[in-house]
Amino acid sequence: MSEAELPQSATPPFKAPRHVAIIMDGNGRWAAARGLPRVEGHRRGVEALRRTVRAAGELGIAYVTIFSFSAENWSRPAAEIGELMGLLRRFIRNDLAELHKSNVRVRVVGERQGLESDIVRLLTDAEELTKSNDGLTLVVAFNYGARQEIARAARRIAEEVAQGRLAPADVTMDTIGGFMDAPDVPDPDLIIRTSGEQRLSNFLLWQSAYSELVFTPTYWPDFDRPALEAAIGEYQQRERRFGGLVAKTGS
Ligand code: IPE
Ligand code: IPE
Ligand code: MG
Repeated sequence: MSEAELPQSATPPFKAPRHVAIIMDGNGRWAAARGLPRVEGHRRGVEALRRTVRAAGELGIAYVTIFSFSAENWSRPAAEIGELMGLLRRFIRNDLAELHKSNVRVRVVGERQGLESDIVRLLTDAEELTKSNDGLTLVVAFNYGARQEIARAARRIAEEVAQGRLAPADVTMDTIGGFMDAPDVPDPDLIIRTSGEQRLSNFLLWQSAYSELVFTPTYWPDFDRPALEAAIGEYQQRERRFGGLVAKTGS
């Protein structure tokens, strides 16, 4: 079928990347710049998240992964950790029904062991309630660290080998990828980090092998649809060659 024959609804305003992952950074600095406590930046960050998920759906993005709490964030003061846990609880309680109504499928990646039991339940319930939705997939990276994820995968593969269910020679890239926390989710095409920092901070190290990275100075609480469109615009200027000589077109 030629492009002209495509139904109107299949033509978004522009060709969107299929999977956008976001390192939502800069909440504390946003607050400090206004003389506010850090928690106020986190609160406003939740509003930015709502805006961004809505915009992503409208732009035809199929998968959005958000880095909401890293395995290393436990090194913050207990009071801030408590506030972040409280915000996650409130986000799920307040927004899950709306996300479900919008046909969003929620997935969670990261280590659940060691989390408070009510948080584990909220995360599991969110996945369970929305599992049959076929709109945007929102992957929440919570208590997530990429090296930890790879180590978990390696342990499970070692277990398969020890049980004689898998031969060492059969451990391929696909095998390893299949043991990641959300193996069915495609690798991110675009990773956006806000706040001016230019590092991955242990986010999606396996899956980001060929992701395009876009860094924006905007602090996360100020992120919105125009900022998302600007990042996608930058992504679209890139040539994705995947080691070859010719740019691969497509998302
Ligand atoms: C991102 O904002 C939120 C989390 C890491 C949970 P920060 O809290 O890291 O804000 P900055 O980097 O201190 O400004
Ligand atoms: C990365 O931000 C983690 C999240 C956005 C959840 P950090 O603020 O924790 O990263 P570093 O410490 O500056 O690398
Ligand atoms: Mg930070």
